[in-house]
Amino acid sequence: MYTAPHLVLPKISNLSDLNVYTANGGYAAYRKALTMSPDQVTDEVKRSGLRGRGGACFPTGLKWSFMPKGNDKPKYLAINGDESEPGSFKDRQIFEDNPHQLIEGILIAGYAMGISKAFIYIRGEYHKWVDLMQKAVDQAYAAGYIGEGMKKTFGGDYTIDIVVHKGAGAYICGEETSLMNSLEGDRAYPRYKPPFPANKGLWGMPTTINNVETIATVPAILTIGADTYAGIGAKGHAGTLLYGISGHVNKPQVVELPTGMLLTDIIYDVCGGVPGGRAVKAVIPGGSSMPPLRGDEIEGVRMDEESLKVLGTHIGTGGIMVMDDTTDIVKVTLRIAHFYHHESCGQCTPCREGCGWMEKVLHRIDHGDATRSDIDLLLSVASQIEGHTICALGDAAAWPVRGFILKFRDEFEARCKPDRSFVSLNVVHGRRATAGSLVESMR
Ligand SMILES: Cc1cc2nc3c(=O)[nH]c(=O)nc-3n(C[C@H](O)[C@H](O)[C@H](O)COP(=O)(O)O)c2cc1C
Ligand code: SF4
Repeated sequence: MYTAPHLVLPKISNLSDLNVYTANGGYAAYRKALTMSPDQVTDEVKRSGLRGRGGACFPTGLKWSFMPKGNDKPKYLAINGDESEPGSFKDRQIFEDNPHQLIEGILIAGYAMGISKAFIYIRGEYHKWVDLMQKAVDQAYAAGYIGEGMKKTFGGDYTIDIVVHKGAGAYICGEETSLMNSLEGDRAYPRYKPPFPANKGLWGMPTTINNVETIATVPAILTIGADTYAGIGAKGHAGTLLYGISGHVNKPQVVELPTGMLLTDIIYDVCGGVPGGRAVKAVIPGGSSMPPLRGDEIEGVRMDEESLKVLGTHIGTGGIMVMDDTTDIVKVTLRIAHFYHHESCGQCTPCREGCGWMEKVLHRIDHGDATRSDIDLLLSVASQIEGHTICALGDAAAWPVRGFILKFRDEFEARCKPDRSFVSLNVVHGRRATAGSLVESMR
């Protein structure tokens, strides 16, 4: 039905085996890169329109161009495979099905930026995928595709070493500066920016951090060319995406499709619709930190960053979470708030205290102990977190809470008691509450 090219997850069995990978054109993209200058490679990635797949959609070629030139100090590449956001589970598909394309992408990125050491930081709980990635790296070393052996295999002087690193087991480890502290062996606390990693990253040296899918896409861009890649999918957010679809769909899955797909096509055609033919009540389009869409507004919605931005949400990691009309929105919001409260590293007050307050108030609402003014209190706490923290976990916590309230306020209100403070004020001051004021306080 869809003629999407499979650029990151080609339909080839046993591709995780190096021999199969090379027999199917593996490392041809890197050889092509070597015929270009490092700056030409970066320009090619820029022209392709590739934007980071780790959530923020930052243009990849532009990020690479921030790295200082020259080899007077070590430079590092960190591949972010922490993948701990609820609803995001696409990078592990690359570790499992196409790890050598990630390695080839690292070679190309390393060559473009003059980097001689890369780390693949993989979520601590991903034991299976850490082992699979390590196996692929070992295979590539043994065959001379990584390290000193590269000189013989590809000619020239350029070499890069790759270390697979098991993450420290917390969502915050995926935040790029936190990831660097974790790699250095410290507690995974996010760092203030500036300085940005390209100037002062790992061990104080220039560092680029990219998502697994971002880097695994790079060999495909070199293979088909920047112009062809830029022509795939949505204008302004080119290429294919690994969509991870979960929740109330008949066929939850990770699937590679162009950006700009209709959300309804993904839910109904690709994923076989909602079990029991029920209606969609809400969809989170890009992982739990993204504001939701109501079921009655998903018609015509296109899955790319520019289209979703207009609707007040984002593509994030492409993790689509579908909820049918039996879903308790208050409980969903509480569950999400609990996650962010639990994962806050506690460094900054708005996030540490605010996430706790949001969870507490939502708990009150869920248990029928809150009043309508608590809903406004929640909105106020969310706005005091957003934009006032060291890292974006604060925003990630605030956005879904505010988003669910704005889209489903009636459901939150239905769980609230009459506003006690308003009623008791009337009693304390000995005034008779009018019928109108009581009705208003109970709405
Ligand atoms: C709390 C938090 C967790 C994050 N987790 C991840 C993650 O698991 N993987 C990832 O690639 N990016 C994650 N990010 C985004 C990274 O900070 C960074 O933007 C990304 O790795 C850059 O790669 P890209 O430009 O290729 O998207 C996270 C950000 C925050 C604030
Ligand atoms: S925003 Fe939250 S997670 Fe990020 S540094 Fe501050 S307290 Fe830590």
